[in-house]
Amino acid sequence: MIIPEKQSVDLLLIHAGTLLTLDKGPSGPLCGSETEDLGEILDAAVAIQGETVVAVGSTSVMQSRFSATRVLDVHGRLVLPGWIDCHTHPVFSGTRENEFAMRVAGSSYEDIARAGGGIRSSVRTLRLTETEDLLDLLLQRLDQFLLMGTTTVEAKSGYGLSTHDEVRSLEVIHQADQIHPIDLIPTFMGAHEFPDEFRSDRDRYIDLIIQEMIPIVAERNLARFCDVFCENEVFSVEESRRILLAAKDAGMLLKIHAEELASTGGARLAIELECTSADHLVQIPEDDIAQMARSSVVAVLLPGTTFHLGKKKYAPAQIMYEAGLPIALATDFNPGSSMTQSLPMITTLACLQLGLSPHAALAGITRNAACALDLNRSHGRIAPGYQADLVVVNAPSSDYLPYHYASNRVHTVIKRGQIVVSEGVRRTP
Ligand code: NIG
Ligand code: FE
Repeated sequence: MIIPEKQSVDLLLIHAGTLLTLDKGPSGPLCGSETEDLGEILDAAVAIQGETVVAVGSTSVMQSRFSATRVLDVHGRLVLPGWIDCHTHPVFSGTRENEFAMRVAGSSYEDIARAGGGIRSSVRTLRLTETEDLLDLLLQRLDQFLLMGTTTVEAKSGYGLSTHDEVRSLEVIHQADQIHPIDLIPTFMGAHEFPDEFRSDRDRYIDLIIQEMIPIVAERNLARFCDVFCENEVFSVEESRRILLAAKDAGMLLKIHAEELASTGGARLAIELECTSADHLVQIPEDDIAQMARSSVVAVLLPGTTFHLGKKKYAPAQIMYEAGLPIALATDFNPGSSMTQSLPMITTLACLQLGLSPHAALAGITRNAACALDLNRSHGRIAPGYQADLVVVNAPSSDYLPYHYASNRVHTVIKRGQIVVSEGVRRTP
């Protein structure tokens, strides 16, 4: 009898009690009931060579096919693709717990912003912070993300709001991306607010964004996406269109903060401009949901923001689900409206407040989040050819993740084939 030679790989993860590949169905994001089949394999194994997944299957079959330099037995734990946080504002210095206390006492987010707090207060602080301190803060935050299972983070600028400070913020994101295992996807968000010095001349600030900031950001390749806060009292639909079109012409992909606090037409603008995603969508009109479902725009829902702002109305996720609109989920991590880095907590809110199933929520922080970042061919699945980003969770089944809330159940994190967290502790490979 001829025993076929085993293929040797760097790492063989074995005995995942449940593993979700997220590699089923059509090629794009998972919509509606497609999110119920996440490609579950029981007693699963994954073969990894370098930074890439080579094969995935049952442990017994995989052990007969592969020999490995290192075997990692995960003893029946849950294994998922590394989590992708597709909407965050992580470059800031100074926190705003004073505003949290004010909101608890009855002030609204909008009142605080009108009075000069909110985003503008973070802008004042960031401008006074040295670049190396900004980098340090970001690196510490990235460690927290990693310990909580997040392996890819979209990172927006937007607390600089001058050419110098926006460029500085994006440079810090690039430096952190070089140093830290997490993949950072940079987004230019000079249109996050009107800074103090342009309050009485909004057009001049928009000109600055279009004529100075976008050309520099594009020329230096500092951002993959451009995002705008399209909202009453911030950027109107017309202003958002001008900015986003300039960014598109300069070669950036587009995102938009749309229909968060009021219904202003941001979702329709996202469809018109073929944005990669439209984010928030709490107040989206029902007609626009159907239209968006016929476009290629991914809905990024941020229930942590609604929760942290203490609002009662959440995005109409069930209508979106029924309409076949792809739903991704993110933390919106920022010092004002959503001070959390926990994607598992977001899945809990998605189940309880958005009415999504645990599986739809898990699709929202893996494959659909990859689609919201135009990373669908490399991230968000455990499949041959995909980047070897995996999270091993102290959980007996996939439903357990949203169920056991406010607890970090992450045991091991593998990023680009390297074990960067084990037994819940950060490791440097
Ligand atoms: O997504 N909406 C705008 N930006 C953030 C809030 C930023 C802040 O308050 O600092 C958001 O909710
Ligand atoms: Fe945001």
